[in-house]
Amino acid sequence: MNKLQNKSALITGASSGIGKAMALSLASRGCNLYLLARREGMLKLTEKEILDLYPTTKIHLIVSDVLDPALPSKLAALTGEKVDILINNAGLALGKDRVEESSLQDWDAMIGTNITANFRLVHLVLPWMLKSGEGDIINLCSVAGHYTYSGGAVYCATKHAVKAFTRVLREETCGKNIRVMQISPGMVDTEFSKVRFKGDESSADAVYSHMTPLHGEDIARMMTFMLEQPRHVVIDEIITMPTDQGSPTTVSRKSV
Ligand SMILES: NC(=O)c1ccc[n+]([C@@H]2O[C@H](COP(=O)([O-])OP(=O)(O)OC[C@H]3O[C@@H](n4cnc5c(N)ncnc54)[C@H](OP(=O)(O)O)[C@@H]3O)[C@@H](O)[C@H]2O)c1
Repeated sequence: MNKLQNKSALITGASSGIGKAMALSLASRGCNLYLLARREGMLKLTEKEILDLYPTTKIHLIVSDVLDPALPSKLAALTGEKVDILINNAGLALGKDRVEESSLQDWDAMIGTNITANFRLVHLVLPWMLKSGEGDIINLCSVAGHYTYSGGAVYCATKHAVKAFTRVLREETCGKNIRVMQISPGMVDTEFSKVRFKGDESSADAVYSHMTPLHGEDIARMMTFMLEQPRHVVIDEIITMPTDQGSPTTVSRKSV
């Protein structure tokens, strides 16, 4: 039996990368989707790709910044305060400079998106899940939540914060039929590096050159596997890297 059929899933950051791949994966399982991101055109593209493959999918697009103060009331009205699955995915890294050389504006954007908005979304949705007696939350962490690397002070700090928050959440929801899970990828070839290097395509391409990175679909497949476990099983966390990556700072690149 398909365990995910007719479940409602809220996916943040569904306009590209991992979130988009997850939207397609959950559509293939018959979920009803609430897809959130800022770029309306890209979100509509996700919707089109889903409907081309799975025409009966129910999709609501939410064009919004995760930090918009009006978002909680918008989501409450749209979902009727019922969300079965939260894929708390929207996030970013900005810049790769040393602490004293990096921009405070970039720090604020990373802390706001990766920490504040991520935590607030759980604060919003968790009471709905507790009331309905069931729910699944997957937080997007990173290997940067487990390791640190020079040039990544604030990004690493935000993902360490996600890891700590997720662990506390798991303790607090124990026995309440809420499965709190986390996935921590290494290098995934998405728009992540393009965003980090602010549109500098050559710096972004260099990140994945002469090695085989993960793709959004790899992460979506793993998250879908987590969700499809029997209800008494929680996969607490998946840490996953490309075979060509040993740690955030160790990458095997084939010479050309
Ligand atoms: N790629 C990697 O190597 C990697 C590794 C480990 C962890 N991660 C984590 O995976 C998650 C997804 O990243 P990705 O690799 O799929 O990158 P991506 O392709 O750049 O996707 C990021 C998504 O987040 C959305 N987003 C960013 N800021 C937002 C905001 N303020 N409000 C609403 N939506 C926002 C973007 O949509 P809009 O721009 O349209 O708003 C986009 O859909 C992030 O949390 C990232 O930290 C990525």
